[in-house]
Amino acid sequence: MLQHFFNPSSVAVVGASQNPAKIGYEILNNTFRYNYGGAVYPINPRAQEILGHKVYPDLVSVPSEIDLAIIAVPAAAVVDVIKQCGEKGVDSVVVISAGFKETGPEGARLEEELAMQARELGIRVVGPNCLGIIDTASSLNASFAAGMPLTGHIGFFSQSGALCVAILDWALGENVGFSRFVSLGNKMDISETEIMLSMAEDDNTRVILGYLESVEDGPRFMEAARKVSETKPIIIIKSGTTTAGAKAASSHTGALAGSDHAYRAAFKQSGIIRAESMHSLFAYAMAFAAQPLPKGPGLAIITNSGGPGILAADACDRSSLHLTPIRKETADRLRAFLPPTASVYNPIDIIGDATQERYEKTIEVVLSDDVLHAVLILLTPTVAVSAETVARSIVRLAKNANKPIITAFMGEKSIRGARKILQDHAIPSYDYPEDAISALDAMLSYRRWREKPPMQYRQYEVDTRKVRQVFASVIKQRRHDLIESEAREILRAYGFRLPESRIARTTKEAVRAATEIGYPVVLKIASPDVLHKSDMGGVRVGLEDEAMVEEAFFEITSNIQLRQPEAHILGVMVQEMILQGREVIVGITRDMQFGPMIMFGLGGIYVEVLKDVAFRIAPLSVESADAMIREIQSFPLLRGVRGEAPADIEGIRDALLRLSQMAVDFPEVIEADVNPLLVCPEGQGAVAVDARITIQE
Ligand code: COA
Repeated sequence: MLQHFFNPSSVAVVGASQNPAKIGYEILNNTFRYNYGGAVYPINPRAQEILGHKVYPDLVSVPSEIDLAIIAVPAAAVVDVIKQCGEKGVDSVVVISAGFKETGPEGARLEEELAMQARELGIRVVGPNCLGIIDTASSLNASFAAGMPLTGHIGFFSQSGALCVAILDWALGENVGFSRFVSLGNKMDISETEIMLSMAEDDNTRVILGYLESVEDGPRFMEAARKVSETKPIIIIKSGTTTAGAKAASSHTGALAGSDHAYRAAFKQSGIIRAESMHSLFAYAMAFAAQPLPKGPGLAIITNSGGPGILAADACDRSSLHLTPIRKETADRLRAFLPPTASVYNPIDIIGDATQERYEKTIEVVLSDDVLHAVLILLTPTVAVSAETVARSIVRLAKNANKPIITAFMGEKSIRGARKILQDHAIPSYDYPEDAISALDAMLSYRRWREKPPMQYRQYEVDTRKVRQVFASVIKQRRHDLIESEAREILRAYGFRLPESRIARTTKEAVRAATEIGYPVVLKIASPDVLHKSDMGGVRVGLEDEAMVEEAFFEITSNIQLRQPEAHILGVMVQEMILQGREVIVGITRDMQFGPMIMFGLGGIYVEVLKDVAFRIAPLSVESADAMIREIQSFPLLRGVRGEAPADIEGIRDALLRLSQMAVDFPEVIEADVNPLLVCPEGQGAVAVDARITIQE
């Protein structure tokens, strides 16, 4: 896949220049400088020779075939060069030139023209507005980056050229090797999805690293990531987490759904490891590229000082790793050579006068214990120990270890040499224990993702015909918001349990309905124009008798007439009052990139003030529905506190899955809230008390 980009037999640099200050010179120089084995053709109409190589006036004049063209001419000339590529039969092109979509409408128009030309000629394009690409296996540096990464196993793609440069510089400083570097630029044609898939096929790439500001085609990206992450870890840092757009939404679900919720959900559902900062991106990259995944959560910490050991233990506590108690046999083996003041329990504190020999013996014992799945070695410099000799011991022992070994040697001057030894031998070395723990934690989550059983999806028998009918009638009336009775019909068609209710147009009808339903009841205004019924004084709950119903009927209708005089009132809905249930909210919203999203949260202040909600992209698997229920911080309240019976989690899961099916079946549903969904005690299901649905033609 994209073979000509990463392993071309020949490359042309269009816009190659004799002037060392120009980008075209830099790119040409990079293609020569790092021993790329293929042919390189500089293209420039005005030069005869650059860097000792013959120059061709245009692509067509080159006597041999060209696999890849790197274009570094001003934006206005790029379309013409693409036409030349078509003539010459070049099928892969990297456009370095800026001056396209990123500059405004004129640039966007130029980019569209370029895209159209490329498409017509069957030419694939990386860029425009990019730094270029690098493939260390073929020694190709088709970029204007200053430097060439070492050969290694990390494939990196980035939507920011500047970040590519920064990462390259870091990698060179830290001795971290890369397989590929791709600057995506404006992603006019080739996007992150294809690059990810091509790196998945590349034998030299073990870990895929990415910096993204946006995703081009959410569902396709997720599908690809899901497939790729089955075999290779994908670690992404995503910036630009804006909530703009969400503000205009009218439902709770819409208002709470910033684009970051969508990315967060999409990453979780497709096995992508999200790095929250550049710092953790590097930290994860080091660990994933160099070490095996832990077989389980059992962590052993070896330290020569108490404080860092405790910091590491605290960090472990916040992670999914487990500070495994040391078994008696292992503890006895440690005691045999450790001083009596040492602690053989986890963290294993071999104390301040620990020597290289003590470190080595301890590491050996820990590595041989199968219940300890990963080892974190901490070292603070002391006069008793040479950090470099400990580093060498670790390197030696790591050769036969079948578990991850991670280190945090703390300090700077006296451990610099040791760190270099570790880095040179692919032992991740961090400045602080917390970084080491978070990298191991990410590795453990990834392992669990890879080993999880296949996702299960449920398909419910639903009445889509009924839903279509209701939607058609709403659209015919030029409305977008469904009134409550319509929303109820939709929910009923999707198998939700609803409270019994009747529409009453008079006080008398309301009293009759209440008697039939049974007290206590709830009264709500029935009007297509009143969206926020409670805020408008359109809801009364806990009505125990005839007199209360009469009074509530009068009050509700007068409130609406007063506060929203233009509202068309159909009557008042008399509804069964569900007495035992915890309020939750489930909803649908749509994300521009990823499509339908499902939300879950506890009702009332939990959703409105604390915004304690979870999102996932539809269709939801049973596992995703379960995970989102457990993800909210207030989940313990559903499990039951202070002797309360647990809420019916199965009922919530069922509601989420039904809603997910609706979101997929009916793209016209742009927003929906079931609020509240009253969750009864375990085994008794959940009742959709109120719902708002907004559709678009
Ligand atoms: N075919 C071949 N060569 C051509 C050409 C064509 N159609 N049109 C122009 N050239 C030659 C020029 O003659 C010049 O060579 P010279 O130095 O021998 O005269 C060379 O290509 C470059 O053209 P020039 O007009 O001098 O442009 P430049 O070098 O100042 O800038 C870019 C060109 C592409 C570097 C510049 O337009 C640009 O986009 N810079 C920003 C790049 C960037 O930031 N990318 C994103 C990074 S993340």
